[in-house]
Amino acid sequence: MAAPTPLIAGNWKMNGLRASLAEARAIANGAAGSRARVAICPPNLLIHQMCEMLSGTEVLVGGQDAHWEMSGAFTGDVSAQMLADAGAKLVILGHSERRTGYRETDEIVARKTQAALAAGLEPIVCVGETLEERKAGHALAVVTGQVRGSLPADLAGKAFSVAYEPVWAIGTGLTPTTSEIEEMHRAIRATLSEMFGAASAAAPILYGGSVKPSNAREILHAAEVGGALVGGASLKAEDFLAIVRAV
Ligand code: PGA
Repeated sequence: MAAPTPLIAGNWKMNGLRASLAEARAIANGAAGSRARVAICPPNLLIHQMCEMLSGTEVLVGGQDAHWEMSGAFTGDVSAQMLADAGAKLVILGHSERRTGYRETDEIVARKTQAALAAGLEPIVCVGETLEERKAGHALAVVTGQVRGSLPADLAGKAFSVAYEPVWAIGTGLTPTTSEIEEMHRAIRATLSEMFGAASAAAPILYGGSVKPSNAREILHAAEVGGALVGGASLKAEDFLAIVRAV
């Protein structure tokens, strides 16, 4: 089975005003012809305008979360169908900032993933252990458990990716060693193959957590690393493009 096409996705989190659209344009210009698929996940209010601006370029636009229902009385929430209607092609689900800050469980993430698929979005499902869990020697069990609990059976045969993001590496400048990343990515790959069979080999397993231009090449060339989910370093076109070029 051929290796999956790498995906480099930028997670802007709660950063970016309309003026930041210029950064997205610079990313699209610089990413043209890249080996990787490139995506930007801006705040919801920028999605529609960014999609219009980037139409005709190779850069995809994604959301950072979506509700598990398509519509209804959920004040303040946004559904997968709304993201798709605005032009998004992908959506990040189960980010640790949502699991921690909004108490999202594996079950909620799985329901959100089902909704994303129903809306025609490609889910990027995030998993990752805390520092305490790693120190206690539970990282592999925690993460493979999250994969089993957060990925619904409907993903079989669909385009999706899993992002391994150790909670302690997000926004901290700390990263696991290359061999720790490889060990985890192999365990996730084996779990996907048990759950979804051989077709799941097409799903890239992204690494996320303090990816930056200086460490991107080593991380992106590690075994079973099929791309990156990039937070802080995706906000500046120059840094993000350096990561895209490191694939
Ligand atoms: P970071 O964030 O690159 O700023 O560490 C990654 C993420 O949270 O997706």
